[in-house]
Amino acid sequence: MLNSNFPRHVAIIMDGNGRWAKKRAFPRALGHKQGGEAVRRTVQAAETLGLECLTLYAFSSENWKRDESEISDLMNLMRRFIEADLQDMIERKVRLKIIGDYKAFAPDIVDRLEDALERTKGGERTLAVALNYGAQQEIARAARLAAEEGEVTPETMDRHLYTSDLPPLDLLIRTSGEVRLSNFLLWQSAYAEMLFIDVLWPDFGEDHLREACEEFARRERRFGGR
Ligand code: IPE
Ligand code: IPE
Ligand code: MG
Repeated sequence: MLNSNFPRHVAIIMDGNGRWAKKRAFPRALGHKQGGEAVRRTVQAAETLGLECLTLYAFSSENWKRDESEISDLMNLMRRFIEADLQDMIERKVRLKIIGDYKAFAPDIVDRLEDALERTKGGERTLAVALNYGAQQEIARAARLAAEEGEVTPETMDRHLYTSDLPPLDLLIRTSGEVRLSNFLLWQSAYAEMLFIDVLWPDFGEDHLREACEEFARRERRFGGR
């Protein structure tokens, strides 16, 4: 199963928590909670499948437009997640990385995240979580930093993106059936394979990730060559 056509870096737009809850007449918060369980399953599956890096879109720079109560549910979920899963990540040698402007979150969350970054920094595989992330903002920031240093080229831009230390993005998955990128990894997707699947995020699990990786392995990537 693990062959050279297997992806090294998979990113997921975890979408559909709200619709999952709505279908069951549950509060949206429960959809997000179940989405958290899907995160646990998927991180475990990424390890089983031997991925070097899994990048998850958890909160976009546009998600601040949501109701205060939904934002606060998401923040509490994040607090609980760090509390419950940090030790496990350390033991499993997972390095946490955050992409996005996470310093805009509440000070206690920033502290918890920075503690988690510090305590997982020796990990061998990477879990990158996009928090208050927007690709256009990331690209503008990289352009500013590259210009301060000298020339703005694709290579100098790459060095200033949040993802500079990650393997190239191989496969981008979006759940929930929506076919758009919603300001996620626009630069990094230049030659990524894309997969839009009709599964709501709380229903996602190991089989879906494995099938996605197998689909990736069947694709022919040409990068503009022939
Ligand atoms: C994804 O699920 C979770 C976040 C964006 C934080 P949604 O909350 O967007 O679920 P839908 O799209 O309303 O179903
Ligand atoms: C993208 O989903 C953001 C995350 C999954 C965190 P959204 O639900 O926010 O995207 P739109 O609004 O449908 O484009
Ligand atoms: Mg959505």
